[in-house]
Amino acid sequence: MNYGLTYQKPRFMKKLTIGLFAIALAALMACHRTPSENKLDLSVQWKFHTGDDIAWSGASFDDSKWDLIKPTDNWENQGYKNLDGFAWYRLRIVIPHSLIDDAYIKDSLQIKLGKIDDYDQVFLNGELIGENAKVLPVNTEPRPDFFNGPSRWDVSRRYVLAANDPRIHWDKENVISVRAYDSGGAGGMFSKPFEISMIDLPDHVMFDFSQSNFKFSGDTLVSKQFAIYNISQNEDFRGLLTVKANRCDNGNALFKQETILDMSPNLHMVFTVNVIKDLSVPATIYFTFKENSSGKEVNAQLEMPYILTPKPGKAPRINGASVFGVRPWSPFQYLVAATGEPPLAYSAEGLPEGLRIHADNGLITGAISKKGEYKVKLKVTNSFGTAEKDLTIKCGELISLTPPMGWNSWNVWGLSVSDKKVRQAGEAFVSSGLISHGWTYINIDDGWEDTHDKNGNILTNSKFPDMKAMCSYIHSLGLKVGIYSSPGPKTCGGFEGSYTFEEKDARNYADWGIDYLKYDWCSYGGIAPNPNDRELKFPYREMRKYLRKVNRDIHYSLCQYGMGEVWKWGNEVDANSWRTTGDIDDSWESLSGIGFVQDACSPYSAPGRWNDPDMLVVGWVGWGPHLHYTKLTPNEQYTHISLWSLLAAPLLIGCDLTQLDAFTLNLLTNDEVLAINQDPLGKQARQAWKSGECQIWVRELADGSKAIGLFNLTEQPLPVNVKLDYLGIKGKWMMRDAWTQKDLGFVQTHFEMNVLPHGVKLLVLRKN
Ligand code: GAL
Repeated sequence: MNYGLTYQKPRFMKKLTIGLFAIALAALMACHRTPSENKLDLSVQWKFHTGDDIAWSGASFDDSKWDLIKPTDNWENQGYKNLDGFAWYRLRIVIPHSLIDDAYIKDSLQIKLGKIDDYDQVFLNGELIGENAKVLPVNTEPRPDFFNGPSRWDVSRRYVLAANDPRIHWDKENVISVRAYDSGGAGGMFSKPFEISMIDLPDHVMFDFSQSNFKFSGDTLVSKQFAIYNISQNEDFRGLLTVKANRCDNGNALFKQETILDMSPNLHMVFTVNVIKDLSVPATIYFTFKENSSGKEVNAQLEMPYILTPKPGKAPRINGASVFGVRPWSPFQYLVAATGEPPLAYSAEGLPEGLRIHADNGLITGAISKKGEYKVKLKVTNSFGTAEKDLTIKCGELISLTPPMGWNSWNVWGLSVSDKKVRQAGEAFVSSGLISHGWTYINIDDGWEDTHDKNGNILTNSKFPDMKAMCSYIHSLGLKVGIYSSPGPKTCGGFEGSYTFEEKDARNYADWGIDYLKYDWCSYGGIAPNPNDRELKFPYREMRKYLRKVNRDIHYSLCQYGMGEVWKWGNEVDANSWRTTGDIDDSWESLSGIGFVQDACSPYSAPGRWNDPDMLVVGWVGWGPHLHYTKLTPNEQYTHISLWSLLAAPLLIGCDLTQLDAFTLNLLTNDEVLAINQDPLGKQARQAWKSGECQIWVRELADGSKAIGLFNLTEQPLPVNVKLDYLGIKGKWMMRDAWTQKDLGFVQTHFEMNVLPHGVKLLVLRKN
């Protein structure tokens, strides 16, 4: 084993270890991003106006009365609710000639404009330079129908011009005007980066970390494979590669190694860096390539994953929901989720008539005929002891009394989901142990449907040869199954929806053994193009009517992206959860843009009625057959799970469960964190305090404790001084760190904590 940086030559050659220099470094409190040089920041001072007038492209047009807008977030999030169609952005900026002077390669200028939802034309000083991510030559006339064709919302805009292009006014003020067209949902510019720079060394030499995720071996070794590319066709780059790792808490160096690289055109080299550290310590790896002739550097950095969740003990521990809702006569299925050294023996006292527990696997099945509240004592025993837990079974009308926890195929497989992948997900719930922490649902999203047959029965496509058999297989694992459809004629993926077949579909779902339905607005937009209140509710009421007629408890999940403030009426249509936002992706912008605006929905959440800020984006995701490891940093992933737990959000894992790594597993198996999500009081957290980019969210728990999230939305570590007043509490409280599951001592009046960039401290304050 090489504890350093190893270079992987092509397979047929010998693996080579390059020189390792252990260099003591001055302590650096440096777990934050370093600004890049020679770039003009384009992320501020944009002017914005709705509507469309080609005169707004002109350099001399007076936009002083236009609104200011952030280009990094869509316009709906900045007060332009439900704005579809045209709007314009304008920015004035001096482009200094020093950009060329300072560049090593002086040919071309690039203008990066984040992403634009959906279509754009970009003008520089009144001249069109690009359209829908494509650069256009001088004197191209703007096409009036540039917004026809497939949406370009997810494409990064990068417009490259030759340095001598007459449309650039060097050393003078330039006006960039963007004509944006949004065809529905969120609209306008968003994401990052927004900058102007020369195409220079960093555009030719790049680090790539996407090939693999961090690997853990033993208790102290963390490895990461990375590649360095020279993508230039003709430039040869020679220089020094430095890789170093520093702890984030005290800045101490963990590792440093340097090596000379000679990179001919079109070359890429793959290395593995091996760092020995305490797994629970946050650290950052810094990568620098310093090119010899220019003296210029290309930098990158990576947060290393750190594991906070303690491993489950040998003695039994019972996890999962402590309250469970069921309707009279519905098939009952509740699995006692428990960790501990096998074999475990399960028993339950006080089960109502009609139910029985399977002693060897903890599955409670049967049916209850009488409405009522039943107090049950669960017991799990092994050779290390016995654990007990109270479970309240409420037999009545309301189900999903705690937020559903499970897996959904969309964020990983997109439309390439198949029977095999769904079965594998179920099997992985068992083999990875997720099932022992309360994870239950295996949900198929879009992509399983064929047409309705002549009797109105929905058929499955060839990827799902036998849905009923698949459902009973998932049930046999102790899990539940979910499915997806749309009230429209077509789903968002273009498959057959439920429109006019609602009753038949509901019956088919029940017959197959479905336990969860995600019902996605999609093409219903064609039936109700400008839906009023009644029209928004109608299709959801319709399906609910038929779901209620089947003898099965089917969690009813609305997906219509928050239209008409669904959180205010989701319970009226008897939904169990409703999406409050558009789709999430694995970026900080998306995660924070969704997660931190949930306060307005909070008062409407209650047991059986959950706000759904969309599914989880940790692990290997991809929305299609080609997967990548989540782009969220480890801190951001802790923020994701902590915030979703505080928000009492449905937790639906959206990754490939056959490739779960130790870090992701640590995120998904922390029973104290999950207990916050599953707290039986069912009260969603509120934002209790906010100062700049620091926020405190507080969730009241059933036993009178408070779950507290301290969030740092900046890119620097931040000390947060918390006054108990902010949390609306007084007196002496015992503070516990939910992730490390350690008591931190008593607090009174105030306490201070360091929170990592984009990171969180998730605490539980227990009354003394
Ligand atoms: C979207 C929905 C996604 C996914 C997709 C399937 O509208 O928000 O979560 O279900 O449709 O086509």
